[in-house]
Amino acid sequence: MRIAVYPGSFDPPTHGHMDLIRRAARLFDRLIIAVGRNPGKDTLFEAGDRVEMLREITEDLANVEVEVFDGLLMDFAKGKGASAVVRGLRAVSDFDSEFQMALMNRTLAPEIETVFLMASAEHMFVSSSIVKEVAELGGDIRELVPEPVARRLAARPPTEV
Ligand code: PNS
Repeated sequence: MRIAVYPGSFDPPTHGHMDLIRRAARLFDRLIIAVGRNPGKDTLFEAGDRVEMLREITEDLANVEVEVFDGLLMDFAKGKGASAVVRGLRAVSDFDSEFQMALMNRTLAPEIETVFLMASAEHMFVSSSIVKEVAELGGDIRELVPEPVARRLAARPPTEV
C-alpha cells in the first residue's frame, strides 16, 4: 500500500490543487490531503472550512482523504505511514522555497520522499493568494476554483476599504 500526503494551506483550494490531487491519486493507493492549521498564519478560511471544501470537491475520488494537521508535516506523514509527500511546482519562482522545504523535510525524515508534480499549463498562474485578492475585490474567480469554493467566496462580505 503506497500512501502519500499532499500538504498545503488550501486557503482556498483552487483548480490547480484539484488537478494535482487527481493526478497524485492515480499514482498512490491512498492520498491524504493534509490541511495545515498553522495558528501563526492569517487565513481567510478556518481549517475546518478548508477541510469541508476539500472533502466536497474530492468526494468522487475513493482513495483520497482530507485531514487537518498541526506541528511538523513529517511527524504527521510518519504517523500515517506515508512513503511520500506530494507538492506542486508552477513557475521557477516556486523552486527555491520548495527545495528548501524538501531538504529540511528529508533531514527530519529521510525515509519519506518529496515528489513534485508540475502544474498543468492552464493552472500555471493560479494561486490561492491571487484568487483571494481578486475575490475580495469583487472579481469573477469562477474559472479558477471549483464551484463549492466559488460559492463560499461569494458568500463572504466584501472587504471594506
Ligand atoms: O500551501 P502552502 O502554504 O505552501 O503549504 C505549506 C505547508 C503547510 C505545507 C508548510 O508550511 C508545512 O509543511 N508546515 C508544517 C510545519 C513544518 O513541518 N515545517 C518544517 C518543514 S519546512
